[in-house]
Amino acid sequence: MISTSIEDAVHLLQNGQLVAFPTETVYGLGAVALNAQAVARIFEVKRRPHFDPLIVHVATAEQAFALSAERSRLAERLAEAFWPGPLTLVLRKIPAVPDIVTSGLGSVALRVPAHPMALQLLVALDAPVAAPSANRFGRVSPTQAAHVQADLGAEIPLILDGGACQKGVESTVLSLLNERPTLLRPGATAREDIESVIGAIAVAPGTPAQLHSPGQLTSHYAPRTPMQPLSLESLPGASERVGLLAMQPRSTAGYAAVEVLSSTGNLLEAAAELFSALRRLDSQHLDRIVCEMPPEHGIGVAINDRLARGCQH
Ligand code: TXA
Ligand code: MG
Repeated sequence: MISTSIEDAVHLLQNGQLVAFPTETVYGLGAVALNAQAVARIFEVKRRPHFDPLIVHVATAEQAFALSAERSRLAERLAEAFWPGPLTLVLRKIPAVPDIVTSGLGSVALRVPAHPMALQLLVALDAPVAAPSANRFGRVSPTQAAHVQADLGAEIPLILDGGACQKGVESTVLSLLNERPTLLRPGATAREDIESVIGAIAVAPGTPAQLHSPGQLTSHYAPRTPMQPLSLESLPGASERVGLLAMQPRSTAGYAAVEVLSSTGNLLEAAAELFSALRRLDSQHLDRIVCEMPPEHGIGVAINDRLARGCQH
């Protein structure tokens, strides 16, 4: 059921049930993080492999650091600069964080989301919430309550409706486990912005900026319709129905369906529209989708990452 009742959401979570809720990035599928059985349901409902750890959401930096075994000046500076907001920090965990949340790792991913409804929920519940994106594993992430309803509505009791997500791509995941902070997933907080606060960071092998062949990417964020990057070879043939996902207005001759993510080529606007537009194209029975890749800076890095993974089938 789609609802705006924080009270009902708190009640369900306290009883070990799952609740989908809005964040500024994408909708999350939440369970009380310290309740291992409730968290296990997340994996069942998402059909997510157990070796993929979850992000734990809390209302304040204090609550985040309470789940971490150490507290560094570096983590504090990042928290001050970016929380609430779309930055996830990977820190050493305290034993109370269940193995099912972290896939048995000694670390935990933590973030304070910026969406007012997510914060209201976390404050009212007064407990950390483990939540991946509220979509079936590997599929396009949800940025509206209706997306969650379409994917998982039959299996979860409540979807909190907080409107369309403002950022539209997931949080940036940064590990502080090693001497040098390491980017594990590009996301809605730009690498440039992080580096302006803490200086140069490393990029983990396997993150797109480090990859030479897109074949090394695992399929994720994928529409059901095959998708490929826009190029001379991917132009529509005469007998095909091809959809175009464009960052900005461009020639659309020959396409059966077109989504333009920003009328001015603004990457923040494009990110916010990305997953909704992909879902719309995916519902139109196209033979394939071609996508224009944005420039590799700011949030464009995260858009590139999601599109490149969506192109892997
Ligand atoms: O914006 C977001 O981050 C959204 C909203 C709901 O907060 N959540 C999200 O969760 O995207 P999910 O589960 O789809 O992605 C979690 C990412 C994965 O790439 C996972 O591998 C990484 O965080 N992660 C979680 N815990 C980790 C850990 N202990 N060490 C390294 N990576 C971790
Ligand atoms: Mg996800």
